[in-house]
This record gives sequence, C-alpha cells and structure tokens, in this order.
Amino acid sequence: MNQAPVITIDGPSGSGKGTVAARLAKELGWNLLDSGALYRLLALAAHNHRVKVGVENEATLSQLARHLDVQFVGATEGTPAKIVLEGADVTQDIRNEDVAAGASEVAALPAVRAALLERQRAFQEFPGLVADGRDMGTVVFAEAPLKIFLTASAEERARRRYLQLKAKGDDVSLPRLLDEICARDKRDTQRAIAPLKPAADAIQLDSTELSVEQVLERIRSEIAQRDIAR
Ligand code: DC
Repeated sequence: MNQAPVITIDGPSGSGKGTVAARLAKELGWNLLDSGALYRLLALAAHNHRVKVGVENEATLSQLARHLDVQFVGATEGTPAKIVLEGADVTQDIRNEDVAAGASEVAALPAVRAALLERQRAFQEFPGLVADGRDMGTVVFAEAPLKIFLTASAEERARRRYLQLKAKGDDVSLPRLLDEICARDKRDTQRAIAPLKPAADAIQLDSTELSVEQVLERIRSEIAQRDIAR
C-alpha cells in the first residue's frame, strides 16, 4: 500500500461523530481531519471580509476557500488542534450556531467544495487518517477501506447539543435547537452537490441508544476484521 489508510466517519451533526473520530484517531495514533471546521472557517472568514454567503458570491467565496490562511496548531494523535484563522485564535468562535448556519450555506456551493478538496486530501498522511464530515466516504476519500455512517434521532441529537451548550453556561431552548438541527439536516441532505448520505459500502451505526464507548467498540471490531490498522 503506497497511501496511508483512511477511516471515514460521516453523519449529521450531533450523531457523535466528532467525539468518536477524535477518540479513534487518538487510540490509533492517526491524524484527524475535522472537515466541518474548514466550512466553519470559511463562513467566519467570509463574515470577517464582509462577503455575504450566497450563490451570487460563489466565485469570491471559492477564492477565499482556496487561500484560507489557517493553521491547525498542536494537533497530536487525535487531540483537536488550536485553530488559527488569519492570525487569530478562533477555536471557540467557529463553534457557535451562527457560524454553523453559515457553514451549511457555503457548503452547498460546488465551487467552494472543489476549492476545499485538495486541502482535505492533504491530511492523508502516514500512519493513517480518521476523517470526519458529511462526504468523506462518498467524495473526498471514496477509496477508504473503512467507512462509517453514524446517525442518531433528531431528538437525541438536539438533546446532546442542549446539554453541551448548557454545560458551557449558554441560555438555550431545546425546541429551538431541534428546529435548527432539522433545518440543517434538510439543507445538508437535499443539496445537489455531495449531499449527506451514506456511501454504498458504509457501515451504518445508529448511536441513539449507544454510548461513545459502544460505538467505538463496534468500529474496533470492523477495523480488526479488515486488518487495516496494524
Ligand atoms: O460537522 P460540522 O457541524 O462542523 O459541519 C458544519 C457544516 O459544514 C455542516 O452544516 C455541513 C457542512 N459540511 C459539509 O458539507 N461537508 C463536510 N465534509 C463537513 C461539513
């Protein structure tokens, strides 16, 4: 094999894929790609440069994506990096709900997705890569030897997000979060380009009633069957 192996973990927000991908990368000692962070960074960069996120600005946004000045600092073995955009630490800023909504909109633009393709593929380095996103298994790493599609009910995903935000001290409403999650799911699954859907050869896991450890256990057994992480 002359290319580093890739495990893709796709699914909707709140399915637990971010946590699972980070834990898996850490235990394997592999690199981690949080592809959603790139779309979030682009939404934030557009906001900073006063470029409205919309199809009318697709060319400008794709230029911005191609030249995005971003560093992932200090990521080791699955530990999420500090994320620096144009010199500023935006690790926390990219996680807010406004940025998430902007990310979902820029992600629907084909020229933007094309511009981010090579940047994502550059993460495929030895000893291996765990790639978390929506189209990791269908588009970006279509040849990956193990593809996971992680889901959970919308109610459970809203509940998880609610608990996360509450723990941070944010004042949030569960029904509003559920509405936002449903709207984002709709946009992500119905867009014309690289919609959120399982690859034909993906293993589908529903995490509604599984703990992170149980999900990891299932993935470990898939890895063992395929003999990919030696
Ligand atoms: O995973 P996340 O919530 O950080 O992703 C933010 C947005 O980016 C989400 O609405 C969908 C989009 N996205 C995408 O279209 N393709 C990816 N590979 C990752 C994220």
